Amino acid sequence: MRRVVFLLLCTLLMLSCSTKHVSSPDGGIEVFFRLTDEGVPQYRAMQDGAPVIEWSAMGLVTAEQDLTQGFRVLRTERSSFSDRWETVWGEERWITDNHREWRVALQHTSGRRMDILFRVFDDGFAFRYVFPDADGPMIVMDEATEYRFARNHELWSIPWRTEYYEGIWRKSPVCNQPSAISGDTLCSPVTIERSDGGYMFIHEAALTDYPAQNLYTQDGALRTYLTPWMEKGKTTGIKAYVIAPFATPWRMVIMAHDLQEMVASRIMLNLNEPCRIDDTSWIKPMKFMGIWWGMHMKSMTWEQGPLHGATTENMTRYLRFAKAHGIDAVLAEGWNKGWEDWKHFSFTEPYDDWDMDYLSHLADSLGVQIIGHNETGGNAADYEEVLDEAYAYHQAHGIHVIKTGYVAPIIRTKDGLQWNKGQSGVRHYRKVIETAAKYRICIDNHEPVMPTGLQRTYPNLMSQEGVRGQEWNAWSADGGSPCEHVTVLPFTRIMAGPVDYTPGVFAFENPAMPQTRVHSTLANQLGLFVCLYSPLQMACDLPENYSKHPQAFAFIETVPCDWERSMLLDGKIGDFCVFARQERAGERWFIGGITDEQAREVTIPLEMLDTGKTYQATIYRDSDDADWQTNPYGLTIEQREVSSTDTLHLRMVSGGGLAIAIQP
Ligand code: NOJ
Repeated sequence: MRRVVFLLLCTLLMLSCSTKHVSSPDGGIEVFFRLTDEGVPQYRAMQDGAPVIEWSAMGLVTAEQDLTQGFRVLRTERSSFSDRWETVWGEERWITDNHREWRVALQHTSGRRMDILFRVFDDGFAFRYVFPDADGPMIVMDEATEYRFARNHELWSIPWRTEYYEGIWRKSPVCNQPSAISGDTLCSPVTIERSDGGYMFIHEAALTDYPAQNLYTQDGALRTYLTPWMEKGKTTGIKAYVIAPFATPWRMVIMAHDLQEMVASRIMLNLNEPCRIDDTSWIKPMKFMGIWWGMHMKSMTWEQGPLHGATTENMTRYLRFAKAHGIDAVLAEGWNKGWEDWKHFSFTEPYDDWDMDYLSHLADSLGVQIIGHNETGGNAADYEEVLDEAYAYHQAHGIHVIKTGYVAPIIRTKDGLQWNKGQSGVRHYRKVIETAAKYRICIDNHEPVMPTGLQRTYPNLMSQEGVRGQEWNAWSADGGSPCEHVTVLPFTRIMAGPVDYTPGVFAFENPAMPQTRVHSTLANQLGLFVCLYSPLQMACDLPENYSKHPQAFAFIETVPCDWERSMLLDGKIGDFCVFARQERAGERWFIGGITDEQAREVTIPLEMLDTGKTYQATIYRDSDDADWQTNPYGLTIEQREVSSTDTLHLRMVSGGGLAIAIQP
């Protein structure tokens, strides 16, 4: 990866605490710091001259010390940073990192040093706690970070105990959020619709050897609740075991004037460390199909038997179909022994009806990759024991991507039963990514800890679940996700990182559960390929269902999953969104739109196209009589010559959508 550092400006060492704030490079955001008379560290943030976050508490409580008060400022240091770096893959090829940094060096009455490191960007700010001295082990019992808003805003969130983050995001005023730590405490991230019309996105970046943050309200402020350690299956008061020198993850607030600015923010990636993998040539974004939807729809099984999905014969059919349709890879779940009891999975022993040697040679000869699957049933400890063996086996069979899984609300790590987003779980996931990198294997992690931008450092961490994905539309007793669900995700879960939602259902009947189904039209399923970003994008339905709609499938064949640039053209959280993305190192543009249960017309100016050039647009839109309930298959496909001066007016029906492929 080529990194271009343009300039590193003036580092100013200031020996007094007279400097009280730091501004973003464009001056729009100002972050203030103060110590109260009791030595309590607090920050405050303003945007365009108006307060957005009022004086809010900072600090940690350790087993030995209360590091939320009793500080004095030793000195402050400032620097400015401007960089432009190239992503290995992503929504954007080039990312600008333009920020001011401010280190406030503090000393506690106990003598312990703690610095607060601020970074302020034009679209938000972040800070972390840094323990610069080699003080040795510390036990973190609590973190005092809070976000005290100047006004009462509306907040989108899911509760922290939502299993695997697979919940429906809901909106309600900040002051109505749970006011004590409870099952309703919120997961990070949260997205805030500000009462002044702007937006905030609060999350963490670079989660490393520390528990994931959660949030709850107290006196109208959002406060931090770190995921605790468990002891013999019970929650303890301990949050983290760290060894100083040490820095916490970044606490990050995107502050945007509109939704376009919010989704375009790359603060989280900028706060993560640069890539640690020297040669990234083996890391490739891919579209894939899979022996998968059949199991969720109950027409196939994971375990061996009469309906076994992952057989040599079935996989041969999928691989040949993928080859014929330009799909890069095929996932196979249920290829390995262990599905009978979900307790003793082997990651190197296939079932008898799966011929790994034959299939890996076939895949190689077709130029289609096999995506491996390692479901652990939540037994992370046993998985760690065999990681090297498992990855060497996959590598030897030409497998460069593995979907991992941790189905168990509480996982078993080397430290016993633990929350997967506690410190022990976070350590496990990191070990998996680092070990996989040694074997040139990319990871698509299901049941993950919420992403925090680590894909910048480890681009082999390609996609993650952590979402109520398509599979819920196969078996959820509540009938499937409401139409609105997918229109919330780009502004909430996906702000935290790529999502393996698995779009592309082409058959809306559900014989196994007739009351449950995908609340969507065909055009909506196509629009998801552009709206829900993932560098590993699954076309989740069965080959036979794609064969019934070859013209619609042509969009999936052509749409890329790696982008030069991306932009939100229009949207409202929970109502609709329209995204435009330009393929990486190419000239084609792709537009996707999705709506909730409300039909609506959207206006799409094509200003992003090169001026003076003529393009051919293939438009996939809901037919006039389409409707997710009564006629989900109603799709109209049109060809149009377009240029940058054109504006399209397209209608999406209830549960509908649109997809457009534009090529010069
Ligand atoms: C849950 C995952 O989300 C799903 O994709 C997978 O098929 C099953 N676990 C089995 O591993």
